[in-house]
Amino acid sequence: MNRPENVIEAAVDYVRELFSACPGGSHDAAHTLRVYRNARMIAAREPDCDTFVVALAALLHDADDHKLFHTEDNAHARAFLTDQGVDADTMERILAAINAVSFSQNRGRRPETAEGRIVQDADRLDAIGAVGIARTFAFGGEHGRSLDDSIRHFYEKLLLLRDEMNTPTARELAEARHAYMVGFLAEYARETPSS
Ligand code: NI
Repeated sequence: MNRPENVIEAAVDYVRELFSACPGGSHDAAHTLRVYRNARMIAAREPDCDTFVVALAALLHDADDHKLFHTEDNAHARAFLTDQGVDADTMERILAAINAVSFSQNRGRRPETAEGRIVQDADRLDAIGAVGIARTFAFGGEHGRSLDDSIRHFYEKLLLLRDEMNTPTARELAEARHAYMVGFLAEYARETPSS
């Protein structure tokens, strides 16, 4: 295998290239890089985790997202990791963490590994707070949704995430982001009286 720091660097380049086909602001390379940053921050405070697995799972967590790419069985992530000479066991642990992240497929289920829990928290943190608000409306624009439809997404999903964080670090970071969204929604309601 290539040296771990080189694999991580190559993964950053790989996702930049991969997501150049996804110009919208909701699921772009910048989102992946923020998730990677969140994941490193959380991992630094979690005693028992494999930071290499966390880094690669964060960087590749959307590389086979079915909303963005038409791949099966983590084909992009597998091809990248194989190309980098990552051994089979490590690759399976990275893929298991990636597959545990998705909100819709894992509703109410905690990822089984520490690495999966960390990357899930990192991804969920990027869905809330100021960046979560920005991404929600970017996603709405990409899909032709009205502002009120995007607002509904806060009540159906985003306001629930604070209480679903796995790690103490993410729970702490989620607090301020959650409060910011609540303030935003109150102000939005004030400015849009329903007659
Ligand atoms: Ni994501």
